[in-house]
Amino acid sequence: MLAIMGAMNEEIELLLSELKGREDLTYPGVTLHRGRLDGVPVLVTKGGIGKVNAAMTATYLLVNGASRVIFTGVAGGVHPELRVGDIVVSTDCVQHDVDVTPLGYEPGTVPDESPSWAADPELRRVAMEAAQEVENIRVVEGRVASGDQFIASQEGVLRLWKNFGAACAEMEGAAVAQVCAKSGVPFVVIRSVSDTADHDANVDYRTFMPLVARHAKQVVRGMLSRL
Ligand code: ADE
Repeated sequence: MLAIMGAMNEEIELLLSELKGREDLTYPGVTLHRGRLDGVPVLVTKGGIGKVNAAMTATYLLVNGASRVIFTGVAGGVHPELRVGDIVVSTDCVQHDVDVTPLGYEPGTVPDESPSWAADPELRRVAMEAAQEVENIRVVEGRVASGDQFIASQEGVLRLWKNFGAACAEMEGAAVAQVCAKSGVPFVVIRSVSDTADHDANVDYRTFMPLVARHAKQVVRGMLSRL
């Protein structure tokens, strides 16, 4: 079954309101909503903010039969061409806050794990197709950098751009990617840009997040008819 996950209410409420035959599956810390979106059987859920919540929720999704996972939400733009409202479709995900460099590992690498987790080519293709239908925005395919940090400085942006080649910064994608990879479950992350992760990021985020969350939702909706 297809699973669609966001971190916050704003990221999934538009999908949830259109879920048909909704059935709620409640676990400690998370509720999954099962139903049909545009005729497609889906699990939809809000996972909460950060990598721990994301990993926990992704695990519940997989245990409940998720065979493909789409993460939808907002992010801070890192790629210099990204502006508020634009969309990033993940090529792969890294955890930019992992630092085991004193033991000789590359920045972002969890020992004995992959340095990044690749998104599924077919989900990426379908997401790119659907994203082209959102008007007046740029769509970038790129690396999603996740960490338990809200990035709000030029230095932070440059670190992610130079060290990781990241297109955007958010707080969940790579955790979902890591969990999915362990089970061989395909995933993709779709993020619309709510801020450019610089010194105005906190203000821009609060202003634009509810508006641009619609763009990512539009991409997910566009994917349903193509999957
Ligand atoms: N999500 C949206 N904007 C973000 C930022 N600047 N840093 C981390 N996560 C975000």
